[in-house]
Amino acid sequence: IRKIGILTAGGDCPGLNAVVRAVSKNALRQGIEVIGFKNGFEGLVKNEFIKINDFIASGILTLGGTILGTSNIANPFKYMQEPYGTPENPVDVSNIAIKNFEDNKLDALVTIGGDGTLSMSQQFVEKGIPIVGVPKTIDNDLSATDQTFGFDSALAIATEAVDRIHTTAQSHHRAMIVETMGRYAGWLALRSGIAGGGDIILIPEIPYSEDVIVQTIETRKAKGKNFSIIVVSEGAKNESGEMVIAKTIAGSTDAIRLGGVGQRISQMIECRAGIESRYCILGHVQRGGSPTAYDRLLSTRYGAKALDLIIEGKTKNMVSLQGTQIKDVLIKDAVSKLKLVDPHGQEVHAAVSIGTSFGSKEI
Ligand code: F6P
Repeated sequence: IRKIGILTAGGDCPGLNAVVRAVSKNALRQGIEVIGFKNGFEGLVKNEFIKINDFIASGILTLGGTILGTSNIANPFKYMQEPYGTPENPVDVSNIAIKNFEDNKLDALVTIGGDGTLSMSQQFVEKGIPIVGVPKTIDNDLSATDQTFGFDSALAIATEAVDRIHTTAQSHHRAMIVETMGRYAGWLALRSGIAGGGDIILIPEIPYSEDVIVQTIETRKAKGKNFSIIVVSEGAKNESGEMVIAKTIAGSTDAIRLGGVGQRISQMIECRAGIESRYCILGHVQRGGSPTAYDRLLSTRYGAKALDLIIEGKTKNMVSLQGTQIKDVLIKDAVSKLKLVDPHGQEVHAAVSIGTSFGSKEI
């Protein structure tokens, strides 16, 4: 192995630079050249990259975001950007990306990303490109690994937010809503809700009833608990499977992006439960800043292992945390199967056992 490429794609998260550092340092120590493509797969298509030397790979362990830049719209198989394609007319430019890979005389590529990035990686693997994937997302919804890096950092931020909301809710006797990210999966809301002592947790995997939410707040009030903390995942759905949001913007069908679920629940509570309510959408605060110690460690282990796999010739694979060990799985077995919260699992059960409501009569 003489030369490898690396890229970070999809939404950013704490720990990306720690992976870039670990892959690069492991490679450079063994005399392997490293180039980092800019802005995810866009850099591979446009052949825009930086040469990563020891100087560039140093001092970035604790840095949030990604020094390489990222893009969650650049898909070489459906490329929508100039000069090749448009949003109305996406074009397959994967052959250009493959030519750039070959012209740069790369032996392998490390792709760091979530389900979308890994699915594209698998398409490249099927076209003969040697790739090792590294699983990233604050949503923790990738199957085939016990945890993605980035999740622990986002969880720490969400938990601190719930703690801070707790004291102001108590002081003002309010029902306070904290809306977390998570898209299709409730991991961030579930775990920050449990860790922060939330009274009601609403997640996409457990459809909620507004009646149950109102009853829970009223029962607390009857016991003299005149405030409530409600942690809502941005993808929470009601019993009809709808994502009911407070307002819609003409032409938009993406309820998650409008960040309206928490607002809607807040308005509903104020109207129906006779308690003042406020909401707080955590949004991208959860994705920024420095990784936790856990994520620095996980990212470093993932990055170091990714280079090991390249040297072993396991280049259709993704690094994976299994128990306490970093192992690997085939990328094809890791994609398109989201890992969702089990409504009947131990974590939900523990929360229910201590009186947490999931806004559902069933759980
Ligand atoms: O997948 C990570 C994530 O942060 C989701 O939790 C969220 O729904 C989405 O990305 C937001 O994406 P964007 O930054 O493109 O708005």
